[in-house]
Amino acid sequence: MDGNVKEQIEQLRRVLNEHNYNYYVLNSPTISDKEFDVMLRKLQDLEAAHPEFYDPYSPTQRVGSDITQGFKQVVHERPMLSLGNSYSIEEVEDFLRRAQNGLGGEKSEIVGELKFDGTSISLTYEHGRLVRAVTRGDGTQGDDVTNNIVTIRSIPLQLNPGNWPDKFEVRGEVLLPWANFEQLNRERQFNEEPLFANPRNAAAGTLKLQKSSEVARRGLDAVFYFLLGESLPYPDHYRNMKAVGEWGLKVSPQMTVLHSIDEVHRFITYWDVERKKLPVATDGLVFKINDLAQQQELGFTAKSPRWAIAYKFAPERECTKLQSVSWEVGRTGVITPVANLSPVLLSGTIVKRASLHNADIIESLDIHTGDMLYVEKGGEIIPKIVGVNNKMRQSDAVPVKFVTHCPACGTPLVRIEGEAAWVCPNKYHCPPQIAGRIEHFVGRHMMDIDGIGEEMAKDLYDYGLVENIADLYDLRVEDLLMIDRLGIKSAERIVNGIKKSLEVPYEKVVFALSIPNVGETTAKILARASGSIDNLMAMKAEDLASINEVGPIIADSIIEYFADELNQEIIRRLKDAGVQFESKVSQSSNLSNKLDGKKIVISGVFAKHSRDEYKMLIEHNGGKNVGSISKNTDFVLAGENMGPAKLEKANALGIKIINEDEFLAMISD
Ligand code: IVH
Repeated sequence: MDGNVKEQIEQLRRVLNEHNYNYYVLNSPTISDKEFDVMLRKLQDLEAAHPEFYDPYSPTQRVGSDITQGFKQVVHERPMLSLGNSYSIEEVEDFLRRAQNGLGGEKSEIVGELKFDGTSISLTYEHGRLVRAVTRGDGTQGDDVTNNIVTIRSIPLQLNPGNWPDKFEVRGEVLLPWANFEQLNRERQFNEEPLFANPRNAAAGTLKLQKSSEVARRGLDAVFYFLLGESLPYPDHYRNMKAVGEWGLKVSPQMTVLHSIDEVHRFITYWDVERKKLPVATDGLVFKINDLAQQQELGFTAKSPRWAIAYKFAPERECTKLQSVSWEVGRTGVITPVANLSPVLLSGTIVKRASLHNADIIESLDIHTGDMLYVEKGGEIIPKIVGVNNKMRQSDAVPVKFVTHCPACGTPLVRIEGEAAWVCPNKYHCPPQIAGRIEHFVGRHMMDIDGIGEEMAKDLYDYGLVENIADLYDLRVEDLLMIDRLGIKSAERIVNGIKKSLEVPYEKVVFALSIPNVGETTAKILARASGSIDNLMAMKAEDLASINEVGPIIADSIIEYFADELNQEIIRRLKDAGVQFESKVSQSSNLSNKLDGKKIVISGVFAKHSRDEYKMLIEHNGGKNVGSISKNTDFVLAGENMGPAKLEKANALGIKIINEDEFLAMISD
């Protein structure tokens, strides 16, 4: 029977690996996503029922885990150097001339490639299997991010049959494609998390996440451009990279062998334009001497190879007309001036608006009405106004003046001392500030109300259904049907989501209220220190300011918030609706539910706490300490000298073993 199961598992793994390759590397799936999911689920079930067949290379391992991981530092066998930069065709010509001189006048083939704008990664394969993935780090040593890298579906855990060396290293770039980057930033904007400036930062940040399931969700990709090792299959870079492609890794299809400076020229002119149509970010091109013997002869400087050079694209800049300036009011009342521009194509997207940030910037750029403005989009995704074409200024142009009154509610604006921003002080009665607070309240890190996103929050306000956050709890399905695009299913989902938000713990509720200057961390501290909203509302400024990390400014805004009658009324109504206004933490001895229901075995000797303390920590975080390892064990918390029998059993059943640092990180905030 087990023999059959084993075969079935292996067959499923083989087939799923093949479909992963078709989908993620070749971009040509042969089955539907649903068919894939059905097979994957079947494999997951079989593996769960038969932990003896656990294999870290199984396609099921690519969905990531929730375990917090520290990164091990790994020294690179060969340092990871960077490339010399050039910014013009003349500089590329100089490079080629230097290379030819270095080779005693010998001619050479050049390979032209795209320079992908992500974060570099080094993979090591042994006997056709991925054994390690390490970031560039400082070039000498980097972080072992293998657990995160295996979630990238286009990276094979097992290579296709081929002429690969027994051991080799392949380097490339981890990328977040534009579409996934934009989606991620949309989510982050909604959840009020800081946005990533460009896909490079997003890819690097994602690769360093502690939770590989979140890495898997974000949709990274990777392209490879450098093969290293002894006994490589071919004597030139180009054919080696083509071989890497056949082994199952993604290599750039744009890689081209060039034979003359004219061809280099044409390659640059072509990609300067065409790269804008690619689904991933690029910041230039790379030219490499193709022949490995010639590469070796040229060698390296301390920082970069003499056989390769990067050519950087100039940031794109356009000149366009300022049609008008609009003044936006944010949730916190800050007024942001936005330039409305004549539409212009920049780095593949049409730009119609660009932030002018604040009054100081308008003044320093000396912007006048109807000016022709220079807009740039470099590595940053958000277009930036970098200057004014003074020569084209119209004779009747007047300087753009910052508004003096709130464009939404008419209240005179105030400027906080020492800050560039002008603010509408009418916090609790200014419409966009109220709508912004509704949007904030329903967000993922706050009340996490299913079915209400940014648009829906606006609609609820615009249709007059929700004028403040307390109104949400009076909503009925039939009220929601007023909104044109909303069907009964979505309306029910929203009402259920609102009901479910009554379970959201007090500390998140404090954050959800949008008390000025109270962010996620401060909200948590306030919730723990107060234990209940009644206590929090009764606190005096000096009580608040004496709480660690709460300064006088925060204390004052809390006092001001609770002194407002409308806010008092909102709190009263939220309380009646059943929103959690008391801390559960202070009532029970549980510190968290982070180990909810997890069965954990303790083994070995520990440095930071005693075994009994660890037992207590497990229980106080909702877990269960069990004596012996079985297939139901969730993980083993192991110190030094873990018993060999336990170790063997844990390995046989594929049960995770974590050390005390990892465990402490898991239960910490
Ligand atoms: S070759 C020894 N090829 O650019 C140098 N690098 O500025 C090997 N990059 O660290 C690098 N696309 O992260 C090479 N086609 C390409 C590349 C590329 C992007 C990155 C890489 C490198 C950085 C240097």
